Amino acid sequence: MTRFTTAEISGAGIGLRSRHYRDILATKPPVPWFEVLSENYFGAGGLPIYHLEAVRADYPVTLHGVGMSLGSADPLNFDYLTRLKTLAEQIEPAWISDHLAWISVDGRHVHDLLPLPYTEESLAHFADRVSRVQDFLGRRLLIENPSSYMAYRTTDMTEWEFLQELVQRADCDLLFDVNNVYVSGHNHGFDPLEYLHALPAERVREIHLAGYEEHDDYLFDTHGYRVHPPVWDLYRKTIEHLGPVPTLIEWDTDIPEFDVLVDEANQAQKVLTELAAAA
Ligand SMILES: [Fe+2]
Repeated sequence: MTRFTTAEISGAGIGLRSRHYRDILATKPPVPWFEVLSENYFGAGGLPIYHLEAVRADYPVTLHGVGMSLGSADPLNFDYLTRLKTLAEQIEPAWISDHLAWISVDGRHVHDLLPLPYTEESLAHFADRVSRVQDFLGRRLLIENPSSYMAYRTTDMTEWEFLQELVQRADCDLLFDVNNVYVSGHNHGFDPLEYLHALPAERVREIHLAGYEEHDDYLFDTHGYRVHPPVWDLYRKTIEHLGPVPTLIEWDTDIPEFDVLVDEANQAQKVLTELAAAA
């Protein structure tokens, strides 16, 4: 089986979803890489891992998870981390990412990625957990900025200040979700460009793009639509600022035909190619 190294991840990839296995394996589309939802492959075998191995034979992959609960006060879940490590040894992803968020309290889990208060105390806690997970996995993590709809009175720094400090303390990398920062900026009233320009550019290894849902007084991050025009505008500014960072099209609800995702990825690739030529 061919294996790929980190250096081969570039361009606009697509999130691997089970309804597209057949298309991908039958037609071998020229997609540069796929991102895999880690928790979908934690079983010891069966069809999911069979399909993933088949995709992996022809494409580089990254692992993206929602289950580390790095912001939680619960103990780290080493059963989860052991499964993730086993999957990583089997699949050899270019990298592994999770979120600046928490999903559990007192052992009870929720299905949403909940935001943290951004304080010195939460920063020390989060950075320590990222460091311990990285030591256990033997690799750096990419931490993704969340979309959010509420904030805490105790917060005393911005999300981007929190991330600036986090990468220093934990020596981790970042996954910059352009849609998330647009959604959060709209919901909380900050300027996404201020966020972008404050990021430690050399730490941003991946970008996410997705579609949100518009409500009367807030935007809801559903990953169920094409990327919206203002997010494309922000993406172009992001690539102008950061350079040609590998970019992923995420789609998690009402998943369309594979061709729709290819079309979205082609639009992202067009931006990457145009700006590389201009540079
Ligand atoms: Fe994302």
